[in-house]
Amino acid sequence: MDLTIEGNAYLNGTFEKRCIGIEQGKISAIKKILKGDEHLNFGRKLILPAGIDIHVHFRDPGFVYKEDFSTGSQAAAFGGITCVFDMPNTKPQTTTVQTISEKIRTAKKKSFVDFGAYVAIDDENIKYINGMSKHCSGFKIFLGSTTDSLQLSEQKLKEAIYAVNQANKITLIHAENEQCLREHKEVEHNLKDHIRCRPSECEEKSIKDVLDACRDVSSKIHICHLSSCEGFELLRKKPKSVSVGVTPHHLFFDVGSINSKQTLYKVNPPIRSNLDRETLWYGVKNGFIDVLESDHAPHTLEEKEVDFDNAPSGLPGVETMYPLFLAEVKKNHLSFARLISLLCERPAELMNIPKGKIEVGRDADFIVIDYKETTTVKSENLHSKCGWTPFEGMSTIFPGDVFLRGERIIEEHQLTSSSGLGNNVASGVQ
Ligand code: DOR
Ligand code: ZN
Repeated sequence: MDLTIEGNAYLNGTFEKRCIGIEQGKISAIKKILKGDEHLNFGRKLILPAGIDIHVHFRDPGFVYKEDFSTGSQAAAFGGITCVFDMPNTKPQTTTVQTISEKIRTAKKKSFVDFGAYVAIDDENIKYINGMSKHCSGFKIFLGSTTDSLQLSEQKLKEAIYAVNQANKITLIHAENEQCLREHKEVEHNLKDHIRCRPSECEEKSIKDVLDACRDVSSKIHICHLSSCEGFELLRKKPKSVSVGVTPHHLFFDVGSINSKQTLYKVNPPIRSNLDRETLWYGVKNGFIDVLESDHAPHTLEEKEVDFDNAPSGLPGVETMYPLFLAEVKKNHLSFARLISLLCERPAELMNIPKGKIEVGRDADFIVIDYKETTTVKSENLHSKCGWTPFEGMSTIFPGDVFLRGERIIEEHQLTSSSGLGNNVASGVQ
């Protein structure tokens, strides 16, 4: 056995003092006593599955002054995320076999964690879905316009979903109805205006369209970043093939709780009312929400510190997501079981990857935490190129150690690997 690690491991919903054996990057045994060539004893510290973030914007290629695969994936690693899935609104946009292949080549060179990448479907490339499906982890559909995104028109939604169903891939959807957004467009001065311009009814309308379009399909459909009570009500009784994600920013903030620098919190869909926020928490705690996704969408402070109407939407979050919710668990706001399901188990299931659980045969991806060690978020300690965080000052539990396929990529809060180790996790994709 190459390596054994010992500690208080999260196994099947409880913590047990165990040794985990690792061979060729996989978990090969879980026993009370086990010794490999190398043995690491973490004592009373907790060993949890590493997180999986199915929604990041690493800006590579095209906007690498905001982030690139190297900095974005380092931020992920420090935050206990060992697998990320990258969104297609880069420059060029990821809409062809060539652009997805190029992005994967870049990620292979630069990424410190495992990764996958999505292709965006628009009105032009819809006929090539089958061919493109062999090169990506899934497809993204933007039904409403947002930062540097392209769109699929509402009339083509069903055709797109059916084509992805044939290819048996997951479809992730940004559900804001474009017509509705256009009807509400006006000059914006603050976050309240932003909500008026992108009201819940646009999300509601779009989710209705998606639920209608996917009635007879069996492939997975994921509604990204749910933000409203109205959307939540529609999804309460969703079919089995539909999953829902919520972001940290929609759970930690509401429009009434943000007093400073409004543009930093400008994001699509918008951060809404306290009632929306509480409804999302209800869904998270009670199992109606499937995953937490950061929607890590970095922009520079220079870009954000302009008048509200001209500021880009989006905020960073991949590094702070797991640590923020670990602190919520410590405050008894959430159970370990829910958190691990939301950040590890369900994302692994959705993306069909052998991660997300401490179980023989799966990838040896773990984080080790000292549950007593709470710290506060400070932007200068984070690793995204954008250099700021909307979660400044909030309490967190950061992992001291992070393992990716048995490699200790973070050791006592320090990065150990000097170059990218990340693999593409999409099955059958080179
Ligand atoms: O606020 C957002 N920013 N929403 C999106 O859908 C895209 C993202 C970005 O890429 O900046
Ligand atoms: Zn996004």
